Amino acid sequence: MQLNLNGAAVEAGDLEGRLLVYVLRDQLGLTGTKFGCGAGHCGSCTVWVDGVPTRSCQKPAVEVVGREITTIEGLAETAPGAGLHPVQQAFLELQVPQCGWCMSGQMMTAAAFLRENPEPTRAEVEAALDQNYCRCGTYHRLRQAVLRAAEIQREVSA
Ligand code: FES
Ligand code: FES
Repeated sequence: MQLNLNGAAVEAGDLEGRLLVYVLRDQLGLTGTKFGCGAGHCGSCTVWVDGVPTRSCQKPAVEVVGREITTIEGLAETAPGAGLHPVQQAFLELQVPQCGWCMSGQMMTAAAFLRENPEPTRAEVEAALDQNYCRCGTYHRLRQAVLRAAEIQREVSA
């Protein structure tokens, strides 16, 4: 079966009975999406389905056929201009990752949030990310980076 993935139609093989996170990682080799808790709690497996952050460990792959899936590998292409997405730029600039396992889920969540809230307060950023866990405790840098990403996004869009 085919999936619409990061702007292209890709052959994804047999999707019956499989969760999206496994299809992405095991069948399509897109290992940027991480498997953490496997129970919908941690957010490390977050991708977009039609632009909405979605926990791919809870999503049957057959349910996303015909919909637009975006993973961390396609995030940069969703931003205006060339190069990395503002969230990726800010995470690099502030050296946010420690082990890095949670980061693609954090960035996919943050980028969707900033699309809808281009001028967030710190409290809004905290609320937006409070269901994405980081075992390494990078929360302070994470929040700073999302605020910095909002600045970059506004500069790029000006
Ligand atoms: S692995 Fe999907 S929410 Fe934790
Ligand atoms: S950077 Fe290690 S889990 Fe977040």
